[in-house]
Amino acid sequence: MAIVIFGPPGSGKGTQAKLLMRGLGVPHVSTGDILRDRIRSGADLGTRAMAAMRNGGLVCDDVMNRLVAQRLTEPDAANGFILDGYPRTLTQAEHFAGWLAGKAIREVVIHLEVDYNIIIARLTGRRQCPRCGTVYNVASNPPKVAGLCDLDGESLITRDDDREDVIRERFEAYERQTWPVLEFFRKSGHRVVKVQTGDEAPEAVNGKIRQVMESA
Ligand code: AP5
Repeated sequence: MAIVIFGPPGSGKGTQAKLLMRGLGVPHVSTGDILRDRIRSGADLGTRAMAAMRNGGLVCDDVMNRLVAQRLTEPDAANGFILDGYPRTLTQAEHFAGWLAGKAIREVVIHLEVDYNIIIARLTGRRQCPRCGTVYNVASNPPKVAGLCDLDGESLITRDDDREDVIRERFEAYERQTWPVLEFFRKSGHRVVKVQTGDEAPEAVNGKIRQVMESA
């Protein structure tokens, strides 16, 4: 099965993808993590792509379509995957729909809806382990020792794009370029289910997702 977690920046896509991954045993494919890993490892992503990420804009479609197509052909994705952060433009959605066509893969799009004010509070409190990718939040999910990853003791970092001015740019890119993807999925007959969330803990949101997936 292919699960596409769709929603604005900071809506909890990565958090929910990781919870679903544990239960389903399929990989979590996060395009943001793929890009950040490449930057960290010194791979040449191009100055335009790096500037886009830093400023809250989107990396170009050709690069993203290529990176995702490569990732989805890896053996661990043979039985399914959870996509987080892709597709994010109409061009990417068309490319993905073309990739899916003719494959025996059932797909479902989970649309996470969260108020922007809640998101801003969450993102400014987000901390991430640069080694294993575990995501924390200083308010809702702090590490056991402040500033250090529970799993490997690495010093946690704040993402460059989690500043409020950049978060607002990311919302703008979401509304202008990503929001139409939802309509594309609906009109082209893909299953789309909405999960409205507020102050619930991640596990409660995950329970809602599982419920709508079972009834979809
Ligand atoms: P990406 O990494 O995909 O960022 P994003 O979509 O902006 O989403 P985030 O990772 O910020 O948030 P999330 O929804 O995963 O939330 P999370 O679970 O972490 O992309 C980064 C950049 O890369 C883009 O801006 C773009 O430049 C580029 N890019 C990536 N993909 C691209 C593509 N396809 N095309 C073009 N460019 C692309 O949660 C956030 C925080 O909230 C955490 O601290 C978490 O602990 C906390 N939290 C989560 N759920 C809850 C809850 N229920 N209650 C309380 N706290 C919670």
